[in-house]
Amino acid sequence: MDLLLLADPDESVVQEYLPQSKILAAISEGNIEGIIVFLETSESKLELMNIAVYPQYQKKGIGSQLLKESIQWALLHRFSSIELGTGTFGYQLAFYQKAGFRVDKILKDHFLNNYPAPIFELGIQHKDMLRLKLDLDNMAAQ
Ligand code: COA
Repeated sequence: MDLLLLADPDESVVQEYLPQSKILAAISEGNIEGIIVFLETSESKLELMNIAVYPQYQKKGIGSQLLKESIQWALLHRFSSIELGTGTFGYQLAFYQKAGFRVDKILKDHFLNNYPAPIFELGIQHKDMLRLKLDLDNMAAQ
């Protein structure tokens, strides 16, 4: 749970999606270093609910590898898209876009209306959520 809370500060939200989720973990010498969590939102769609790597293992390529492996798995199982919600700023946005995700829509005031406490990063309050989408059908056709 401490790892999952790095990406999503609300434990009650995490507890809600965790039981139905598909999880891939990066494990080295018996220690979990990172994790990625998906929900199947329909027969053809996946939602990336959480991705987190412990700070001491970050910037070593583990997050990118978890994302890459998951995309390959989703292509293999013929899912048509992966969607996710994230903040409107921060390195995470570049991280997802490098993997091919595109901005799909914006949910104004999402972090203000759906989280019990304000969320700050780089000294800036997260207010709006960006919805990102990876079109797997398009990827498979290329
Ligand atoms: N600050 C700035 N850039 C960072 C960073 C940080 N703290 N952590 C990773 N990056 C950059 C890397 O430099 C790299 O960029 P590059 O491709 O230009 O070299 C890119 O992100 C991917 O790095 P990688 O090593 O593959 O990722 P990671 O193992 O560090 O995992 C996260 C990436 C997002 C999973 C990880 O940083 C994390 O757990 N963050 C906290 C939880 C979180 O914010 N989850 C996402 C919620 S939307």
